[in-house]
Amino acid sequence: MRLIVTCAVGLEDLLRGDLAHDGAQVTVGGDGELLVDGAEPDALRTNPMVDRVALPWAVGDDLSGAESLCRAGGFEEPIAFRVHERDASRREVLVESVEAATGWTNDPSGWQVNLVPQAGRAEIGPLAWASRFGAMERLPATTPPAVAAGVLRLAKLRPGMRLLDPCGGVGTIPIVDALVRPGSGLVVDLSTESIELAQNNIRSLSLEDRVFAEVGDATDLDLADGCVDRVVSDVPFGKKIGSTKANDTLYPGLVAELARVLADDGRAILITDDKRRFADVVARNRSLKIVKETPLRYNGVTPTAFSISRVRARRR
Ligand SMILES: C[S@@+](CC[C@H](N)C(=O)[O-])C[C@H]1O[C@@H](n2cnc3c(N)ncnc32)[C@H](O)[C@@H]1O
Repeated sequence: MRLIVTCAVGLEDLLRGDLAHDGAQVTVGGDGELLVDGAEPDALRTNPMVDRVALPWAVGDDLSGAESLCRAGGFEEPIAFRVHERDASRREVLVESVEAATGWTNDPSGWQVNLVPQAGRAEIGPLAWASRFGAMERLPATTPPAVAAGVLRLAKLRPGMRLLDPCGGVGTIPIVDALVRPGSGLVVDLSTESIELAQNNIRSLSLEDRVFAEVGDATDLDLADGCVDRVVSDVPFGKKIGSTKANDTLYPGLVAELARVLADDGRAILITDDKRRFADVVARNRSLKIVKETPLRYNGVTPTAFSISRVRARRR
């Protein structure tokens, strides 16, 4: 069965590699979209870079594949669907024909299958990110979890490593990491509201023993030198959060703290859309260097994920 699998734009190759490694045949179908044949549903279910899964579908096509994918996603109740069609009379005709062909119920607010005739696809709700891993409380600048998963892959985290997100918001990055890797994570953020939401998210996903969240300043971290293996963070771009002027102070302070708290073989991945300013700040730091830049696109922003490593061992 052919599937349409979506991820953040810029992460297609990473996800294609994973799915191909698990035995599927994968081609890039477009920005943020893979066409996948022969994937084991489990390989899709457990990969946190997978944002959504759909089946190619046209009016009149058989929908038994969509039902099996809902079952593979762990949904055992009778299936409900919706039809994403603006024209009310066309929608009504479609709803009736799908009800007659499948015995499913039309439920626009509680669906498992979303039929989108104009896009030619049937979206599978139980295989969407939040259905697979759990819903999290969010704020407007929250990093989408499937983006967090891809950026975490760039960090090459190994079991047992200590991860820090110094501008961690509601905790998405360390939480997504802890859902798939044994190891610990620390979320730091200036905002009390964000840290409260992070703590709720950590509790609701039962990660209290491995992910910790505390109010703090990324430019003045309450952490010992060299105590962190990886830093992964979606830092303020100066658009939705902060200002480019504030970044003039934030970025040098943050980069100086990275240089201080990262272990000798540490690595950091930082996402920002204020690219020139960030790259200039790293270039001025004597102990860190940018080793890779990965352009991303999601939710109307086009940031870069900067991979950073040490130039030389930390001074003791
Ligand atoms: C893009 S958001 C982070 C999104 C986060 N990954 C999430 O999913 O919620 C940037 C965050 O940086 C925080 N921030 C801004 N300046 C900071 C500072 N000096 N120290 C720590 N956090 C800061 C903001 O409060 C905001 O939560």
